Amino acid sequence: MNKTRNELIEAEHKYFLQTYKRLDIVPERAEGCRIYDKNGDEYLDFLGGIAVNVLGHSHPRILEAISEQAKRYLHLSNYFYQDSQIELAEKLIKMTGYSRVFFSNSGTESTEGAIKLVRRLGNLNNKSEIIAFTGGFHGRTYGALSIMDKPLYKDNMGPFLEKIKILPYNDVTALKNYINKSTAAVFLEFIQGEGGIAEAKSDFVSEIFNLKEKYNFLVVADEIQAGIGRTGKFHSFEHYNVKPDVVTLAKGLGGGLPLGCILTLENLSDVWSKGMHGTTFGGNALACAVGSVVLEELESGLMNHVISVGDYLKQRLIRLQKAFPELILEVRGRGLMQGLLLSFDATKLVELLLQQKVIANAASGSVLRLVPPLIISNDDVDLFSEKLEICLKK
Ligand SMILES: Cc1ncc(COP(=O)(O)O)c(C=O)c1O
Repeated sequence: MNKTRNELIEAEHKYFLQTYKRLDIVPERAEGCRIYDKNGDEYLDFLGGIAVNVLGHSHPRILEAISEQAKRYLHLSNYFYQDSQIELAEKLIKMTGYSRVFFSNSGTESTEGAIKLVRRLGNLNNKSEIIAFTGGFHGRTYGALSIMDKPLYKDNMGPFLEKIKILPYNDVTALKNYINKSTAAVFLEFIQGEGGIAEAKSDFVSEIFNLKEKYNFLVVADEIQAGIGRTGKFHSFEHYNVKPDVVTLAKGLGGGLPLGCILTLENLSDVWSKGMHGTTFGGNALACAVGSVVLEELESGLMNHVISVGDYLKQRLIRLQKAFPELILEVRGRGLMQGLLLSFDATKLVELLLQQKVIANAASGSVLRLVPPLIISNDDVDLFSEKLEICLKK
């Protein structure tokens, strides 16, 4: 920990496989919605660890939960009944109305688990095909990549899983043409995150659920980015009044520690029996203890806060869109999952914002993505929009 800022950057370039395009910041510490660089600069965090730090950084209740759990034990393995896991499961089930949970470590592991679950049921029922959509993002492991269409992530990395059809997002006709009795499952992000804060249209969602009635397949909602209160409801699909069979969660669930899960309805509770699926670290005691704090905070007013501060953010963004109509083509998203569709490469704006000490990122090329901690205030939104305006003027 005693290397200088420049020595650290140099060492990263020397030792790491160069898969990440990093921001020019070397954080020393972070608190609330602020990150502090080793050279003392303060940054406003509108990235939130990519939709992870829902309670911001260094939240006192999270630090306390970590410390209490760490004094008892860190890891024992899933051979044991562990109270922090079981209490989190109970809270999740009460809050969501789902019946069963499987804990993982990450989003992509939740996706893998969900693919295995739907494949197993499909195999028992003679249903083989999985449907997913263009622009979707479900993770970086092979199952997840198999249900995605992004060439950068897939080119020359195959072969991928078979019996998968990727249909155009929001295309009702494609659903009607391709879904049939051999469809085992449809994987869907109701609001695509990496895909550029693109929302599913309600007629598209309705058609998926009409076809589900007819052909009896499973709907898997990927709520890894849009879930955990980010859009003002626990799950983003609640804006559509539907109930998917399976939900995948991660990111915000662990409040900054690696934690994910699969939720299922009761009728799927015996698709797997003992030993069919598992993980060493999934449901880690420390991560679950933090997960419970996240859910308690969401229940005690944070979700309402997301709605009001999200509305405020939207107003400010729309005002900027009116002032810069040639630069901002569209304001997208809900709650604290919003995006600006730009007429130019969003990474340019990300760089300008960074010079103004604001952290955000680009999604899908031309969208500036805003997924800040859920605790941001109206003052933070004001500061953000002032800085954004300066950048747009440039
Ligand atoms: C919607 C969605 N699904 C899955 C994932 C993969 O999650 P992880 O990076 O934790 O594997 C992500 C990550 O960005 C995501 O946004």
